[in-house]
Amino acid sequence: MKSKHFPKSFKWGVTISSYQNEGAYNTHGKGPSIWDTFTNRKSFKKGNGNTATDFYSNYKTDLDHVKALHLDSFRFSLSWSRIFPEGVGEVNPEGVAFYHDVIDYALKIGIEPWVTLYHWDLPQALQDQGGWTNRDILGWFEAYVNFCTKEYGLKVKTWIILNEPMSFIGLGYFMGMHAPEKKRLKNFLPAAHHATLCQSLGGRLVRKNVENAIIGTTFSCSYVRPLNRRVIHKKAAVRIDALLNRFFIEPALGMGYPIDAFAGLDFMSKYIKPGDEDLMPFDFDFIGVQYYFKIVAKFSLLPPILFATEVPAEKRNVKINAMNLEIYPKGLYKMLEQFNTYSGVKDIYITESGVCFEDDIEDGKIQDKNRINYFKKTFKYTLKAIENKIPVKGYFIWTLVDNFEWAEGTKPRFGIIHTDFNTQKRTIKKSGLWLKSFLSKRK
Ligand code: BGC
Repeated sequence: MKSKHFPKSFKWGVTISSYQNEGAYNTHGKGPSIWDTFTNRKSFKKGNGNTATDFYSNYKTDLDHVKALHLDSFRFSLSWSRIFPEGVGEVNPEGVAFYHDVIDYALKIGIEPWVTLYHWDLPQALQDQGGWTNRDILGWFEAYVNFCTKEYGLKVKTWIILNEPMSFIGLGYFMGMHAPEKKRLKNFLPAAHHATLCQSLGGRLVRKNVENAIIGTTFSCSYVRPLNRRVIHKKAAVRIDALLNRFFIEPALGMGYPIDAFAGLDFMSKYIKPGDEDLMPFDFDFIGVQYYFKIVAKFSLLPPILFATEVPAEKRNVKINAMNLEIYPKGLYKMLEQFNTYSGVKDIYITESGVCFEDDIEDGKIQDKNRINYFKKTFKYTLKAIENKIPVKGYFIWTLVDNFEWAEGTKPRFGIIHTDFNTQKRTIKKSGLWLKSFLSKRK
């Protein structure tokens, strides 16, 4: 497989995010986000994103790397509280100028900027009023998106509304593992419904404000298999699949929530107001598929409603990444197939995929065979999808430089460029060099 086998128009990009990269967490007018709160509390021992990879100061170096590796597109997110320190109201001009600088520099060196409006760092001031559980978020989000699209819409044409709603709602408002550490259905259900409404509301606003916009939103996905052929496990897998892979895309496509998969979702109706059904869909130009791992599901009495759990990858004698998740490149192909069965899906971009390891230094050099392998295989499956008429139009690597991996801190390293977090020195890993050579033979 060579890069020249991909269509000429195929986009090769890389994705980063504001909280995981920017740093400058309380300077240049930025207000606190829920992730600043989460990582700076005393009981959190895995570091913080206060400096992260200092993209705030290093954006030119990082964009130069994007160029040097022969990538053509750069996806990054806007930090809501850098633009609106209090979430709504007064704008921070320095924050606004920063993103102009990033966009201008990308355009200057011939890199296409892709903007994600929300990659998990909700302004703390809004969380203080309930965050995603408060229906007022529709108005807060509308004001934020309205501002950003008017501000940057002449320069940026590709817009992504949300990054992986199931991740930030599931981990942050149900499992309590991510900011803002909320648990229980009473938080999850309203937060999820408001995210669904913001997903489409954001799409409509971009359409209105940005001429010739290309609009997408992204979904996390996992390839889910049952533990064995017993019916209870198969049904458990169906429920986990509905929760992880169908929950946010189906309402966007006008299909409603996947309540057919498990009755518990009926509770959602409490939060659905008259008229909401008409507001949930939006005709996205593309969907972003974000794939990292496979899940094996089995029946379990806990948690209630879902009655399913996953069998940890460490117990299954399979290849795992630094977050103990199963590395399974073929799952990407399976998920592309699954998303392609929806008639409402137009183009598909793989807006994130990657793999993490801890530093693997031998003879003073970073060994990076496993990451190269991951990309070789997932590229191969992407090509197979294209050959099988699945409309995959691009692949964005997660991620450019090792960054701050949320609740896991800096241990899991996903970058194709190594970050020394003490000095901020970047060193291109072997996977980065491999990618560079792979892409240089495109034409
Ligand atoms: C998120 C990234 C995250 C990556 C690796 C995705 O779910 O969008 O922010 O770093 O997975 O865990």
